[in-house]
Amino acid sequence: MSHTIVVSNRGPLTFRAGADGDLVPVPAAGGLASSLHRLLAGSGTTWASVAMGAADREAVTKGLMHLDGLDLVPVVIDDETYRQAYDVVANTTLWYVHHHLFDLPNRPRFDRRWRQAWEGYRAYNRAMADAVSQRAGDGDTVLVQDYHFSLLGRMLAERRPDLRTVHFLHTPFAEPALLGVLPDDVAAELLDGMAGYGACGFHCHKWEAGFLSCYSALGRERGKRLVAPATFVAPLGLDVDGVTGEAATDGVAAATEALRAEVEGRRVVGRADRMEPSKNIVRGMLAFEELLTARPEWQGRVVHVVCAYPSRTGLAEYLAYAADVEHTAERINHALGDGGGGGGRGWTPIVLSVSDDYARSLAALTLSDVLLINPVRDGMNLVAKEGPLINTEDGVLVLSREAGAWEELELDGGGALGVNPFDVAGTADALHAALTMSSTERTARAGSLSAALRGRTSADWWADQLAAAQG
Ligand code: F6P
Repeated sequence: MSHTIVVSNRGPLTFRAGADGDLVPVPAAGGLASSLHRLLAGSGTTWASVAMGAADREAVTKGLMHLDGLDLVPVVIDDETYRQAYDVVANTTLWYVHHHLFDLPNRPRFDRRWRQAWEGYRAYNRAMADAVSQRAGDGDTVLVQDYHFSLLGRMLAERRPDLRTVHFLHTPFAEPALLGVLPDDVAAELLDGMAGYGACGFHCHKWEAGFLSCYSALGRERGKRLVAPATFVAPLGLDVDGVTGEAATDGVAAATEALRAEVEGRRVVGRADRMEPSKNIVRGMLAFEELLTARPEWQGRVVHVVCAYPSRTGLAEYLAYAADVEHTAERINHALGDGGGGGGRGWTPIVLSVSDDYARSLAALTLSDVLLINPVRDGMNLVAKEGPLINTEDGVLVLSREAGAWEELELDGGGALGVNPFDVAGTADALHAALTMSSTERTARAGSLSAALRGRTSADWWADQLAAAQG
């Protein structure tokens, strides 16, 4: 039987330097690494990922990169190459292209330094190609996760044509007009790199369609025939027992009680996200503000609980976005809360936490009357699935139609309430509709969402990738 090798940038184990210089292991962070870890724990699967920084590299040298039940292959890359590949190309170019986040009059600027970073991205993909080629047995299956490895497909096809390779993308894929922002040769190299995989998978049909249309549109524009690889759609489901088990811990119960006390019996519009420009946290707050000003009867009666935990804090764009989130919350609280226009009711309209407090995030999802998930664009958005699964209030899911999860959770109009993420007034109306929905309808929608979420698990998603590898 062919062995499986999974490839991702972030692995299941990373290290940080402790106060006295010792190495402290830190478990997988982020949706992908933690979901994969839960899924693969104990399976003996080979997992190749990148040693992220000095502490990880030292752990590799000391032989500490080890987890029982998994065969870890840490790939060591120097800091500068990693910065070029991860920060500049993966996270501030490809992430922005695929999520349509560029402020086009000003960014991007593909100058000579960017070209050097693209060289770094190539080197980073080559380092992974070398590691996988060395480790893989004849005919092994290689399941590659995410946009960090757009070029790896072609590299593996050239080095090891015997391997069965699949790429699974956890982000959206850019529409042709946006992919066309990349320099011509870079876009062509990226599409060729992806075409080297045996198959490419997506969380929803919309991203698959965008991907395929890039081959036809860019090929037509540039007078070349670009051949797309085989594609498939496989939405990531939840580890239902894992998620409900975490929500049932004493820590989450205590955090839920504490949050209940904080909101003092008011209705709650809640959210929990990474602090990330694509999550659209600022427009969510503006929509909440518009709800309060257009319908003042809600003032003092509802609280927006926002848990935005730190992400990619090495990137200036992320720090600027975090500052915008904090200023927006402060401004709205000052204008409308206690001491402002709120009438001295001791009410803080937006309760924002920006620390990495997992228990509080789960508490917010548990007790919300409305879950607001309004990303500009999002590959899947697992919170849109975790929230309705653990919520105890028949919470109404207000969901961006640009989240991959929308295709699965709209349930022919009987699941989530859809919003256009750019439409602040429309989002405010959706919040009002959710807050005033009858209890019968809330219960029916929550029941349908829960049934849908229990009907497809992360194991189904994994099985779909293995099947795609077989062709
Ligand atoms: O959404 C894409 C993704 O790779 C997720 O799978 C993951 O949760 C997230 O980005 C985290 O990114 P990073 O590893 O850069 O923190």
